[in-house]
Amino acid sequence: MEKLIIQGGNRLEGRVRVSSAKNAVLPIIAGTLLASTPSKLLEIPNLEDVGTICQVIESLGVKITRNNADGEIVFDASTLTATEAPYELVRKMRASFLVMGPLLARKGEAKISMPGGCAIGARPIDLHLKAFEALGAKVSYSDNGTYTIEADRLVGNKIYLDFASVGATINILLAAVKAEGKTTIENSAKEPEIIDVVNLLTKMGAKIRGAGTDTITIEGVETLCGCDHEIIPDRIEAGTFLVMAAAAGEKVIIQNVIPQHLEAVTSKLKEIGVKMDIVGDSIIVHGGLDNLKPIDIRTQVYPGFATDLQQPLTALLTQCQGASQVVETIYPERFGHSYQLNSMGAKIDQEEAMCYINGPTPLHGARVYATDLRCGAALIVAALMADGVTEIGNVYHIDRGYENIYH
Ligand code: UD1
Repeated sequence: MEKLIIQGGNRLEGRVRVSSAKNAVLPIIAGTLLASTPSKLLEIPNLEDVGTICQVIESLGVKITRNNADGEIVFDASTLTATEAPYELVRKMRASFLVMGPLLARKGEAKISMPGGCAIGARPIDLHLKAFEALGAKVSYSDNGTYTIEADRLVGNKIYLDFASVGATINILLAAVKAEGKTTIENSAKEPEIIDVVNLLTKMGAKIRGAGTDTITIEGVETLCGCDHEIIPDRIEAGTFLVMAAAAGEKVIIQNVIPQHLEAVTSKLKEIGVKMDIVGDSIIVHGGLDNLKPIDIRTQVYPGFATDLQQPLTALLTQCQGASQVVETIYPERFGHSYQLNSMGAKIDQEEAMCYINGPTPLHGARVYATDLRCGAALIVAALMADGVTEIGNVYHIDRGYENIYH
């Protein structure tokens, strides 16, 4: 789809089921490369990014069998042959980098170009590369922009991450599970998606302790076998639906959530004045824009407020009674949405790594563009509240991470 046209002012009502977590599915699919027998993943969401990672691992020789009706996919990596992820796929999606760890563990070599993905500022991979070196690999960079990581054998080591990077923690896990001896990751990321990856690896036969804390230890094993795995619900999609329901909902029931994963966003929504009931694995949102209070947000690593949700929430903050502040500590340039929202009538003042949202301001339909995935979500939230028709371009960004947001 080229553009999304939204007539604002309609109230949302009904139920929506949250899909499996994109940020768990991608590393879990990369993790299937480690097993010498097939793995079956259940309820895989139909996302552009999932299609891309599948193409990446197919290009490496993995056999993929899809059962589209049930969202099941079987990955058979017994046929893994190649060690280089094609540039045309990697440039589409940064998470392609997650195949480095498993390729290194199984084939002793991984080649990959600088990754693509959302335009949300510089996203280096130095922590991944330093960690591979600590495990005994040699890293080289060629003039054509390709990293080659090679190791005759990987040996466990103590690795301290300067920043609790989600991707680096996962890449280290995916390499160290087959290294000789013990690896310790200190200042590891604690996101729920990491626990899900560890659950998969444990089922495959890996020996890992401490997932969900800031120290993970991995005792390397020689062989990993395929397994069946069901992925956790997407806390970012759920958070986006919460914000949409708060902005334009009459009564919306969001199903298949793990409420504990959403505490940072639900507590902020409560502070604004949004009424919600948590019932088992569902959240019922009673929307309405009257007397919403302004708030301050500071994005942080989990369990702090997720950087992926600051953009959709910012759209709602345009309707709060006073000035809200958003400080972005993970991606200081993640503010592509501010200009777009201002063109719909918002008053957002941008400073370095932060913005002030002065509300409430009536929003009106406009022609806007998703500059990145979560900017796209923010524009949908704004369009639902706006007077008139909004035309959102660059919808492909939204399709990368939301399966059902406009269906
Ligand atoms: C993952 C998520 C993304 C989310 C982000 C932060 C996936 C597929 N994507 O991205 O949706 O926004 O976590 O929660 O799971 N950094 C370095 N050097 C490195 C690696 C990271 O400096 O080698 C920095 C980054 O520039 C950034 C911060 O660390 O400032 C966080 O990045 P990281 O946690 O690695 O994010 P991703 O895994 O890329």
